[in-house]
Amino acid sequence: MPSNSKPDRRKFISTSAKVAAVGTIGSSMIPKPVFGYHNSDNDKLKIGLIGCGGRGTGAVLNATNADSNTSVVALADAFPDRIESCAKSLSKQLPDRFNVDKDHMFDGLDCYKNLVASDVDVVILATPPYFRPMQLKAAVDAGKHVFCEKPVGVDVPGVRSVMESCKKAAANGQSVVSGLCWRYDLGVNDMISRIKNGEIGEIRSIQENYLTGTLWHRGDSTTDPVTKEVRKWSPMEYQLRNWLYFNWLSGDHIAEQHIHSIDKALWLMDDIPPVSCYATGGRLVRTNEKWGNVYDHFSTVFEWEDSDIKAHTYCRQMAGCFNETEDHIVGTKGTAKILKGQIINEKGKFSHKKRNPSMYDVEHQHLFRSIREGKPINNGTYMSYSTLMALIGRDAAYTGKKIKWEDFMKSEKRLGPDDIYNAENYVPDKVARPGSEW
Ligand SMILES: NC(=O)c1ccc[n+]([C@@H]2O[C@H](COP(=O)([O-])OP(=O)(O)OC[C@H]3O[C@@H](n4cnc5c(N)ncnc54)[C@H](O)[C@@H]3O)[C@@H](O)[C@H]2O)c1
Repeated sequence: MPSNSKPDRRKFISTSAKVAAVGTIGSSMIPKPVFGYHNSDNDKLKIGLIGCGGRGTGAVLNATNADSNTSVVALADAFPDRIESCAKSLSKQLPDRFNVDKDHMFDGLDCYKNLVASDVDVVILATPPYFRPMQLKAAVDAGKHVFCEKPVGVDVPGVRSVMESCKKAAANGQSVVSGLCWRYDLGVNDMISRIKNGEIGEIRSIQENYLTGTLWHRGDSTTDPVTKEVRKWSPMEYQLRNWLYFNWLSGDHIAEQHIHSIDKALWLMDDIPPVSCYATGGRLVRTNEKWGNVYDHFSTVFEWEDSDIKAHTYCRQMAGCFNETEDHIVGTKGTAKILKGQIINEKGKFSHKKRNPSMYDVEHQHLFRSIREGKPINNGTYMSYSTLMALIGRDAAYTGKKIKWEDFMKSEKRLGPDDIYNAENYVPDKVARPGSEW
């Protein structure tokens, strides 16, 4: 359990080269797309998708790219219109491999129960993060292999449940592959290996930027395409449709989006979680209540035990500002920018950019190869720790307090309604005010 994880800096240094070897995927270890596999119906792997939005639909395409003997057989989403648009898109793009009949299109908030009970081998989880713990548990309990989008929860009890589910999956030989896609990017793997192998000396400082513009907002009503009748959404439907802006659903954008950067800091620290965190944050531009209760910027400092290395992480979602998504690493003998693929050291300035194939395809190549070869992959530890890092950062900013990891891990605070199935008029928490309880 992470609460017992005492990061050990000496061990961390002495094992870093070894960990780099096993912790990075390296181009020679990237499996080729799985074509055929005897090509018989018996060997066909059946895919079910829970969460038929942008990422879920994309993940199905990545999965089918990765393994040619697959078929999409079930779709589940809270809303029928999302299933319909996903089905339309997939049936067009995968005419021979989209085999979802009406009986295998499940809607409603409990749609995941029907999907995992159906005859699927692999479940893709791409709903808002609030639902991840319950849906991962259901998929693992039903014996399925899982592709699990990030983040994996919005509160500590949820992530603890994810860790339990991942343990169970490992014990049962089921794969759980995380949607923290940079872990499967060849260029990023190359850069992480170079840094861990000492090309910039010892790491002294990590700075993570995810400074970006605004994201979608889906309004407050649905218009019937035929009758043009407008149906105003209930408070719950409004929140579910605009889940990014409600911290009980998304975890806030430090978890929903900036987790990709935070995860690279964790990776550089050999997947040892920090011991403490303090942060600032707020909402300067998202002042209208249509933006729910999330912040629009966070600055976070993560500290490790027996180490003066800190990770400083910044995220902002505002229009018209300086944008940069980059990892700036300072070492004793040089500097690195991971996404740019750049290292500057005593030998000069080098660019190590390698970007093909798409990391989104590669993660599914690993997943399907692991199933075919009976060598399960389990990304449970890092996907849980990086989610927890994002959540401790959020809570440190919301409260204005410095929070110790071991205290945070004991948190029993659960976000969201007590009974999701009877919460049509749910009123979300107020925007958090630093210096006050949250
Ligand atoms: N790895 C990446 O690069 C990446 C990129 C984008 C999104 N994501 C992640 O993927 C997930 C989905 O994001 P998205 O952009 O596809 O959002 P989206 O809103 O387009 O899709 C989410 C879908 O889930 C449905 N849904 C909501 N509650 C549900 C429930 N209880 N059961 C079933 N369906 C439910 C929604 O109706 C919607 O269709 C998020 O966790 C997000 O952080 C990852």
